[in-house]
Amino acid sequence: MHPVIEWKDNQVLMLDQRLLPLEEKLVVHRHYSEVADSIRRMVIRGAPAIGVAAAMGVALGVVNAGRDVDSQFPRIIDTLTATRPTAVNLFWALERMRKVFDAHRNSGDDLAAIMIREAQAMDREDVATNRRLGALGAHLLKDGDRVLTHCNAGALATAGYGTALGVIRAAVEQGKQISVWADETRPFLQGARLTTWELMRDGIAVTLITDSMAGSLMRKGVIDAVIVGADRIARNGDVANKIGTYSVAVLARHHGIPFYVAAPMSTVDPQISNGDEIPIEERDPDEVRTFRQIRVANTDVPVFNPAFDVTPHELVSAIITEKGVARGDLYTALGGWLTG
Ligand code: MRU
Repeated sequence: MHPVIEWKDNQVLMLDQRLLPLEEKLVVHRHYSEVADSIRRMVIRGAPAIGVAAAMGVALGVVNAGRDVDSQFPRIIDTLTATRPTAVNLFWALERMRKVFDAHRNSGDDLAAIMIREAQAMDREDVATNRRLGALGAHLLKDGDRVLTHCNAGALATAGYGTALGVIRAAVEQGKQISVWADETRPFLQGARLTTWELMRDGIAVTLITDSMAGSLMRKGVIDAVIVGADRIARNGDVANKIGTYSVAVLARHHGIPFYVAAPMSTVDPQISNGDEIPIEERDPDEVRTFRQIRVANTDVPVFNPAFDVTPHELVSAIITEKGVARGDLYTALGGWLTG
């Protein structure tokens, strides 16, 4: 598989996730506004991957701005900020790039080279973070576990390895037999198109189901655990993730099944005390009315298309981060790790 995102010869290459699994095609970005467009249109998606893309977008902007960088920098940041509102990794990454810019802008150093290095460091760090949280979370899974996941929180949603799928990969690397139930994840079908694709490539057993089948499978007793990723976690442990996650969490609680969230600490938003404050993106109604340009509903039917929902912390059994596994009093654990 081509890397999800890569900096090469002052260009940003991305695997076009809209085309998977039918086609593996790279999109080449030469301007920061093209990167912003690709984030908005979901060429790249998944919270940590969006963060790395934004950082590389800033680096591209600085490279192209040349001597005008001081006047152009605010517009570069604003354009990338306005792409998608929910995944906090985007804003975390932009803030980190802004700090590096401010620290070096008048230093006489090669600013473009420094910004490229920082974006590439974020790319590498994300993979290392996922491996760490994967190893920590893998202890929660037993040999033989059948694990349900929603959306795609895998290698494709990150710089590599994945968060929720990283935990599963790490458990498999420990020698455990793990099989996965993948929700298809309407309307964008990240589960059907992306999760099954990357797990099958790794030889990890996966079965695709429609979103509405999860409850019945839980009742049958064939799901041992649920693991999902996150787009933003409030200080109290409330979790914003792909629409449908909340329903799965309610079902898991009803059936006494552990519900785990796997995410890097860059997904925890220290500014937000609870999930009600998390902005939820609403996307184009045609994502629901059509599938790959084929109409599946009346063209003028009113549609509500929120891309995310919030799962309250009471329904979360544990949050798996690279700093540790937070259980019980999530507020204290997450707060301590944020300041520590
Ligand atoms: O709309 P998307 O595809 O960007 O949504 C992705 C998700 O909801 C993922 O579960 C989340 O970003 C975690 S990715 C490691």
